[in-house]
Amino acid sequence: MKRLVLAVLAAAAFQGAALADTVKIGVIGPFSGPFALQGKNFKAGIDAYMAMHGTAIGDDTVEIIYRDVPKADPAQSKALAQELVVKEGVQYLAGFYFTPDAMAAAPLLEQANVPMVIMNAATSAIVTKSPLVVRTSFTIWQTVTPTAQVAFEDGTRKIITVVSDYAPGHDAEKAFQAGFEKAGGTIVEQLRLPMATNDFSPIMQRIKDSGAEGLFVFLPSGPPTLGFVKAYNENGLNKAGIKFYAPGDLTQESDLPALGDAALGLRTTFHYSIAHDSSENTAFVAAARKAIGNPAELSFPSVGAFDGMHVIYKMIEATGGEADAQKAVDAVKGLSWASPRGPVSIDAESRHITQNIYLREVSKAEDGSYINKELRTFEKQGDPGLAAAK
Ligand code: PHB
Repeated sequence: MKRLVLAVLAAAAFQGAALADTVKIGVIGPFSGPFALQGKNFKAGIDAYMAMHGTAIGDDTVEIIYRDVPKADPAQSKALAQELVVKEGVQYLAGFYFTPDAMAAAPLLEQANVPMVIMNAATSAIVTKSPLVVRTSFTIWQTVTPTAQVAFEDGTRKIITVVSDYAPGHDAEKAFQAGFEKAGGTIVEQLRLPMATNDFSPIMQRIKDSGAEGLFVFLPSGPPTLGFVKAYNENGLNKAGIKFYAPGDLTQESDLPALGDAALGLRTTFHYSIAHDSSENTAFVAAARKAIGNPAELSFPSVGAFDGMHVIYKMIEATGGEADAQKAVDAVKGLSWASPRGPVSIDAESRHITQNIYLREVSKAEDGSYINKELRTFEKQGDPGLAAAK
């Protein structure tokens, strides 16, 4: 009898050990170089989620493996995604700050039997590159379509557009033009800047000379956005009455201390403000600030990462930790939850996040810090860019 009990216990222990697997998640992002702060925000969002929800899902334990792609570099992203799958045995790929990096890794997913959860990259077409892509960030079309509406409602009729010359910039140019022309406005000039542009003063002169009443701009958040808004202020475009229209990438909270009072009053449209007033956001901001260390460094990629982890946890739950990418993705189609940004859901058809887009204005909080204060809500926005991407 005693021997039998021991045998049963041993079998149970063995089975327990077999079931208690580690599920590895490979996260690709810029963790060094000029965009390192954006990658640091991925990590802060992931750490905040794991601090709040633990690292165990049933019998499985989650392990994160980070890989650094400092700038948009599709070849490096693809090579690292391959290495994560083949050598590290990751069951999920996540992160992806830059569109070209996500585009390059997406074709690997089906053969690898691995879902990809995009925590930032915002070109509409990415979700069409594989049925295993899910996105918890935003798209440029989603955030920029309301920008065009706001500009027209302001009474602005002539706009010059300025974008980074890569896929998200092209989406921004198209999305703004579509919305603004449909409303009855005119685009007087369109400028596309090389991604490596860091001197924006010459552009400011061209904007002044264009005869536009307002400027629409999209650049990837990081040193380019800080440099552009500084140049806009320092070259007196604000004072010259050239109105500023942009998605919230241009006024990310981590740039605001360096911009100072000159940025006060800049209005942008975006899916997330750190100042969003909800209990979910209060809890998230506390955990994410703790994770990042310096509270002034917190920015929007953290919320894409936090919600990305929510989706991955649901996928692991649904598959019992087994590698079944299609089952994992199917399990989150139509999933809805209360994000720190507001109510969100994963559209079952596009696998992209449906969410509110907010009009915000750079303001000073009571404690003297700079915030993106929400003024207006465009509710339950899907991705208007998908039709254009097909
Ligand atoms: C992108 O490459 O998709 C991207 C990067 C930074 C942003 C937005 C989009 O702020």
